[in-house]
Amino acid sequence: MTRQFTKVGIVGLGTMGAGIAEVLARTGLTVVAVDVDEAGLARGRGHLDHSTGRAVAGGKLDEAARAELLARISYSTSLDALADVDLVIEAVPESMELKAKVFAELDRICRPEVVFASNTSALSITEIGVHTGRPGKVVGMHFFNPAPVLKLVEVVRTVVTEPDVVTDVVAFAESLGKSPVVIGDRAGFIANALLFGYLNHAVRMYETRYATREDLDAAMRYGCGYPMGPLALLDLIGLDTAYEILDTMYHQSRNRLHAPAPLLKQMITAGLLGRKSGRGFYTYD
Ligand code: CAA
Repeated sequence: MTRQFTKVGIVGLGTMGAGIAEVLARTGLTVVAVDVDEAGLARGRGHLDHSTGRAVAGGKLDEAARAELLARISYSTSLDALADVDLVIEAVPESMELKAKVFAELDRICRPEVVFASNTSALSITEIGVHTGRPGKVVGMHFFNPAPVLKLVEVVRTVVTEPDVVTDVVAFAESLGKSPVVIGDRAGFIANALLFGYLNHAVRMYETRYATREDLDAAMRYGCGYPMGPLALLDLIGLDTAYEILDTMYHQSRNRLHAPAPLLKQMITAGLLGRKSGRGFYTYD
């Protein structure tokens, strides 16, 4: 069976949800974006305006194409707006309780054949699936930040995901210009499981004053060719998100590599979340 996903719902319009909405609308798909309140929707629109404005300034998009792209996205504060979509991609904050509630409600609203995807970075897709009456149609679709730029999508299958659902989601990710990989359901999947031990180690080096933030970042950029150093990357990801990912992986594997560096928690408590709060390891305008 080959499904056509032409109308897609996005739940949660934070950095990732808005970035995914942009990718879909750029491909010509109809997008219905849902967030809890008007403030959430306004924040999402802000991301989209900024990102597409940047594409226009860079000569990648003209104003008419930008207007068409933005017109393909409609907004709602109610999940009922997703009654006739073909696929839902959820990108709400990383809380199992919240995701379970969203998917249980979606299960009631959407047709039984609709596929549910979660953009979770570390939570169990299997557990999300059992909160619906259609666990065979639940997958992970994990995009990377910034979603309009980075090509990887980790497609996560559980022991009960129907094989044709995986095949169709992989084909769909390819149609978006992405490079999907398929993996089983384990905290961190591939990329985060490998990346976050390294990022955490960099925070430990910084907190013990082994090296300055600039030197840590310069070493990995100029010595290893990484596009960003680890502390600048943590600011991009968001320190709260990074902490949650590390904590989930640590609780699952008990690997000390993933025990969150104490400085991360202190910075989060002090409101230093990275770019989104204006200050993390670095300060932003
Ligand atoms: N939205 C849309 N486009 C963006 C963008 C954004 N947020 N950020 C950058 N771009 C575009 C720019 O417009 C630019 O496009 P053009 O070449 O067409 O002009 C291009 O990307 C390059 O941007 P810049 O020249 O401004 O800067 P750069 O070359 O340093 O690239 C970067 C910026 C793409 C962020 C790059 O530094 C990078 O890839 N960094 C690593 C990011 C990374 O590792 N992300 C993964 C995080 S982990 C994760 O996401 C998983 C998770 O679960 C937390």
